[in-house]
Amino acid sequence: MNIKITIAIDGYSSTGKSTIAKQLANQLGYVYVDSGAMYRAMTFFAMKNEFISKDHFDVTSLIENLDKAQLKFIYNPSIGFAEMYLNDENIEKAIRTLEVSNFVSQVAAISEVRKKLVTIQKEMGKNKGVVMDGRDIGTVVFTDAEIKIFMTSSAETRAKRRFDELIEKGQEVSYDDVYTNVVARDRVDTTRKDSPLVKADEAIEIDNSNLTKEEQFAIILKLVEEKLRDV
Ligand code: CDP
Repeated sequence: MNIKITIAIDGYSSTGKSTIAKQLANQLGYVYVDSGAMYRAMTFFAMKNEFISKDHFDVTSLIENLDKAQLKFIYNPSIGFAEMYLNDENIEKAIRTLEVSNFVSQVAAISEVRKKLVTIQKEMGKNKGVVMDGRDIGTVVFTDAEIKIFMTSSAETRAKRRFDELIEKGQEVSYDDVYTNVVARDRVDTTRKDSPLVKADEAIEIDNSNLTKEEQFAIILKLVEEKLRDV
């Protein structure tokens, strides 16, 4: 069967969107795109150029310098997915820190930033066969996606998962700081003016608080297979 569809996965922070998106892309032979990595990359760019720090955010300079940030995904066969590059520097590890997480929602609220990234995302998905995860994939980037999933789970579960992930990567973080970040990002992401995080009407909501990765994968893969039989 050669018909390719588009799969849009949206949801709150640390709901395991990238885990399910990668599993689906591997299973189906589709391209996986982590749109959050692109917002994280723009945040890293803003931090590096001192446009944003704890007590200031120079939005004008960020907007004026957007063209100087060249983003690229390059596939790394040894890990089985694409890594994020900013101006030819591999920043995959650098963008996953709590520091970047603490600034990313402010940067992602800027319309000019969104416009730049949404244009690239649409281009990446124009031939279908793509699984993209983020906040506005089903509502803005691919409004015609054949499958739209909206992931939720309790803030405590999400913070615990993200805390464990960061500790495993060797980062020194406290559970309380991770929890605060998860809740703060949800608030900014759902209340911003441009492309707020909302469930698309036709999206299927999956609360994975009490699901293992395997159970979640089985449920969503079944939905995808049913859809592929229909198209
Ligand atoms: O992995 P996690 O769910 O914690 O976050 P992410 O997917 O890496 O996204 C980081 C941040 O980027 C989010 O909190 C949003 O502020 C922003 N984002 C967005 O605005 N739109 C997207 N399509 C993806 C991410």
